[in-house]
Amino acid sequence: MNFTEIFIEALPNLFEGALTTIWITAFAVFIGVMIGLFMGLARLSHNVIIKTLAIMYIDFIRGTPLLVQIFIIYFGIPNLLYMLTHQQHPIDAYVAAIAACGINSGAYVAEIVRAGIQSIDRGQMEAARSLGMTHNQAMKYIILPQAFKRIIPPLGNEFIAMLKDTSLLSAIGITELTRQGQLYIAITAAPFPVYAGVLLMYLVMTLSISRLVAFTERRLAKSDRR
Ligand code: ARG
Repeated sequence: MNFTEIFIEALPNLFEGALTTIWITAFAVFIGVMIGLFMGLARLSHNVIIKTLAIMYIDFIRGTPLLVQIFIIYFGIPNLLYMLTHQQHPIDAYVAAIAACGINSGAYVAEIVRAGIQSIDRGQMEAARSLGMTHNQAMKYIILPQAFKRIIPPLGNEFIAMLKDTSLLSAIGITELTRQGQLYIAITAAPFPVYAGVLLMYLVMTLSISRLVAFTERRLAKSDRR
């Protein structure tokens, strides 16, 4: 078989992998945003303990490789539980995958949230406080709505980055796009056309998201022009 034939025949399998890639990414970034909102605010807290815990989480996650984080959740935690309880506690690969990527994403989103909040002029908080709002009210009604707009574009970048980083999940046998490619190569022994197809699918996905983010950004910017 020639390049084109193999390439075309690989597409249905790769497409199936791409769907898995998309839903795992969506789940992971959703969890990431939940953790990130919380940790981003915790990072700015005046409470030293809360702030320190947030800094430790962010530093630890961003300072260690995602691949090893995936391994420790999928292989490490069941092993730890076994050592503690002398009973097998296997973890579902998809649960481990989404947990690892979600927890990882949370640290990056926390920094996006922190930067977004800090980018809002100090005077906004001062003005809100001078109108009699409490710190929390000012945060909720004045600062966060403005920060939200600035958070959208980097959040889009995080989505794209996570989408590509889920390829690491092939290492624990999740049949996302990269793993589907590897499995197909095991049948055809033709890495070039198959990996070319894999690359193309990632590219289509990342370009679609970046266009969508650019569009949203322009929409949000409209209300700023007056
Ligand atoms: N590539 C880096 C790593 O292996 C970052 C992974 C996290 N990526 C992300 N979008 N949250 O550690």
